[in-house]
Amino acid sequence: MTKNYPTVSEDYKKSVEKAKKKLRGLIAEKNCAPLMLRLAWHSAGTFDVKSKTGGPYGTMRYAAELAHGANNGLDIAVRLLEPIKEQFPNITYADFYQLAGVVAVEITGGPEVPFHPGREDKPQPPPEGRLPDATKGSDHLRDVFGTMGLSDQDIVALSGGHTLVSASFMYIQSPFL
Ligand code: HEM
Repeated sequence: MTKNYPTVSEDYKKSVEKAKKKLRGLIAEKNCAPLMLRLAWHSAGTFDVKSKTGGPYGTMRYAAELAHGANNGLDIAVRLLEPIKEQFPNITYADFYQLAGVVAVEITGGPEVPFHPGREDKPQPPPEGRLPDATKGSDHLRDVFGTMGLSDQDIVALSGGHTLVSASFMYIQSPFL
């Protein structure tokens, strides 16, 4: 399937490369790759394919979304990122939070994740309750990920994100067992 990614200026691409370097330094220094990956995922995981609302559009910077139960602790990620974000006012929060997730995977030895910039910042956080609930079963996961337009295969692949998490959470990696 051919995907059409937004086009951004050469200046924007240069800023992304510079921001990436700074993110590598921050994430290594603070040892916060899992937190950054969770920030990127919780930003994206609210997407509703039908209404085209929610999703990775920088709304996690708002107190209202940070206050959602599932986002407990992500205020720390937002706070850690802010001094670097301020150095790149041309990059959207939407792109910046996803870039932090990409760098988190990269510096922990994961695969190189292609980064496609061009997300816009939206003014309105999504409603609470769109992220998966760890206490529920595979039907629930299918409902939630289905809302994002994702398949069983996508769920299993994405749950690989938990390889960055402490061993006590590893059961989540096999939601269909
Ligand atoms: C399949 C549905 C998922 C459920 C039910 C789930 C649930 C959870 C829970 C309960 C935690 C512990 C949160 C805490 O420390 O309070 C967690 C942490 C985490 N999750 Fe997930 N998650 C899911 C999908 C994902 C996906 C798709 C990714 C990334 C691609 C991801 C990345 C992470 C990371 C990196 C952490 C660790 C954060 C840290 O240690 O600071 N999760 N998840």
